[in-house]
Amino acid sequence: MTLAPQQVTSRSWPVRVRDVTVRYPGGVTALDGVTLDIEAGEMVSVVGLSGSGKSTLIRTINGLVPVTSGEVTVGEHTLGRLSGRQARAVRGSIGMIFQSFNLARRTTVLNNVLVGRLAHTPTWRTLLGAYTAADKQLAFEALDSVGILDKTWQRASNLSGGQQQRVAIARALTQQPRIVLADEPVASLDPPSAHAVMGDLRRINTELGITVLTNLHLLDLAREYGTRMIGLRAGKVVYDGPAATASDAVFEEIYGRSIRQQDVLGG
Ligand SMILES: Nc1ncnc2c1ncn2[C@@H]1O[C@H](COP(=O)(O)OP(=O)(O)OP(=O)(O)O)[C@@H](O)[C@H]1O
Ligand SMILES: [Mg+2]
Repeated sequence: MTLAPQQVTSRSWPVRVRDVTVRYPGGVTALDGVTLDIEAGEMVSVVGLSGSGKSTLIRTINGLVPVTSGEVTVGEHTLGRLSGRQARAVRGSIGMIFQSFNLARRTTVLNNVLVGRLAHTPTWRTLLGAYTAADKQLAFEALDSVGILDKTWQRASNLSGGQQQRVAIARALTQQPRIVLADEPVASLDPPSAHAVMGDLRRINTELGITVLTNLHLLDLAREYGTRMIGLRAGKVVYDGPAATASDAVFEEIYGRSIRQQDVLGG
């Protein structure tokens, strides 16, 4: 992918998570005293079994789930202390990628990508549906950078899973994000598409310098695409170190069981 200069964010954001506990109504403790310092421009994989708290961590960092105790700071902003308007502005600076793509399936790829501009667009203009030429330029460049410019006018539902995820990445890029958070971005994809999407996320990190945090449950992807890996087990950080050199024993410690075939994508 070739990235246009406009997409290069002047400043990506660090993420500071200070002794954060999240207890859901009903009593489940999803995060239990988590402390993390993620520097601006880091590429971090978060691994752990189902239910270990990966999605909760991502939703806590973008302010969708409130902390029960502790503190989360993104860039200069401490979540929980922001006005509604500030919180929306912060969320507008965080690109989100989901397993299920979260596209508006019946509308065009372009319209889906332009949604990334909403947080930066005055309400009166979104009501008119009037995106600026600069917004459209950003959208086209984002689509080009993930290799699907030729799909601009297609309905999102007509695209393959891998292409739909690239639309979601283009939408996130169009936000000009300071941070990208990806929650199991390749869990619904075949191996070649999974590698393509992980490759795009890596380039967002290396070429644009954006902080990227990706939840993964496949150990080979975590090793290949993260520089740093965080292991969660029952809401606690049980590993925080280099990704590439994390041994099978490290994964067995994180998972609390021996490695199985389903823990590896292959391909
Ligand atoms: N909205 C919610 N209300 C109550 N409990 C929840 C809620 N969301 C998650 N949980 C519980 O919190 C714990 C952590 O869930 P979370 O979704 O963060 O795990 P995960 O690591 O993302 O799992 P998976 O790999 O299955 O996506 C689980 O026990 C889950 O059942
Ligand atoms: Mg999850």
